[in-house]
Amino acid sequence: MSDNINKTGITIKCAACGEKFNDLTALATCSKCGGLLDITPAMPALCSEELQNLFDSRVSIATMRGSAAGRSGVWRFRELVLPISDADIVSHPEGNTPLLDRPVISKFAGVKDLLIKHEGFNPSGSFKDRGMTVAVTQAKRCGATAIACASTGNTSSSLAAYGAQAGIPALVMVPAGRITMGKLAQTVAYGARTLLVRGDFDDCLRLVRESSEKLGVYLANSLNPFRIEGQKTIMFELLQQLAWQSPDWVALPAGNLGNTSAFGKALREAHGLGLIKRIPRLLSVQASGAAPFAHDFANNFAKRTSVRAETIATAIRIGDPASWDRAVAAIRFTNGVVTSVSDEQIMQAKQVIDSSGVGCEPASAASVAGVRELVARGIIAPHERVVAMLTGHILKDPEKLLNTNDGHGHPAANAPIEIDATLSAVERVLQNATKA
Ligand code: F0G
Repeated sequence: MSDNINKTGITIKCAACGEKFNDLTALATCSKCGGLLDITPAMPALCSEELQNLFDSRVSIATMRGSAAGRSGVWRFRELVLPISDADIVSHPEGNTPLLDRPVISKFAGVKDLLIKHEGFNPSGSFKDRGMTVAVTQAKRCGATAIACASTGNTSSSLAAYGAQAGIPALVMVPAGRITMGKLAQTVAYGARTLLVRGDFDDCLRLVRESSEKLGVYLANSLNPFRIEGQKTIMFELLQQLAWQSPDWVALPAGNLGNTSAFGKALREAHGLGLIKRIPRLLSVQASGAAPFAHDFANNFAKRTSVRAETIATAIRIGDPASWDRAVAAIRFTNGVVTSVSDEQIMQAKQVIDSSGVGCEPASAASVAGVRELVARGIIAPHERVVAMLTGHILKDPEKLLNTNDGHGHPAANAPIEIDATLSAVERVLQNATKA
């Protein structure tokens, strides 16, 4: 470890070999053994009630004015993330996402008390902004000259946005022909240098890791422990919205397993600090064509497997999840469950979520599909309180909203109707609608 004084009080340590790093490290993984790095925040010298009061005091009117960091739903919890001052922070702001209650979605899932936390309300339209504000802040702190990531589209959009804000050039690698139009357009428009790699996400991640090691660019994938620290705040904010009363279950879609890891870590810390009394069970949901983690769960995590991933939910089309070790710890700590759902189940859930007026991208709907599956299997009881995460905005994947089978790109369930510009034509449509 270098002699730099660690101003933030956080500890950065390799989970595999124990090597320690100072808090201005530009490394995303261990330089000695390549292992994943873990961050331990300095425990604040406040009791649980004082901490709750501190976090609560930063909500309401404070979320409407002041610095971006002061209004952020990530930096509100900075004592448990990275305790630095506003001037050092690259924030949009982000977070402060809503907790929604939609009876049609609850009914579909089969639980009375289902809440939806919609992370698609973040500035670039996905939960990735929570981790990216912290990773790009760290990139700035350690003087990075370029930042890079591999992505199925949301991480790249987020990195492009925060890189633009920080004035640090961003390089992204995405699988050629396998990224949605919304995500590609966003990434390019925010100004990231975009490489369409002939391969899948797992190839992109291998390539970006090599580039980071050999070419010295700052790696912003969720391997990077600062991403995990930011994503913990999804859970902190959810618990705060529930007045620090834990739900029974928290369901989320799972791909590269950064979020599963972050949720487990947040719960361990929140419980350790006395912010919550009870630990909710995590339900990580994969698409059945990209479900190595669900497979390993079924085998009690005896070994780690990988697959060639294929699913309609492009965001979670990942066959060799990078944060496997951390995610295993998260599932074990929370007595969690990992399951998989078919593309058909995902699209069925998405249709219900979309037509409720909430909307989400396909991968996000896996959480609700997973809850329905576990209720059907008798693992989640209908009276239990469940929170399902929606991770990305409906417009991230406009292609899936449209049925291109008719050759005109019209929505499948609710095709638009072309009419003459006359009142009688409108009247006819209205009459048919009321008859239906
Ligand atoms: N939901 C959405 C909308 C995502 O974009 C991702 C991951 C996940 C869920 C899965 O989260 O990887 O933490 O298990 N998207 C990454 C990307 C891989 O590149 O945007 P995870």
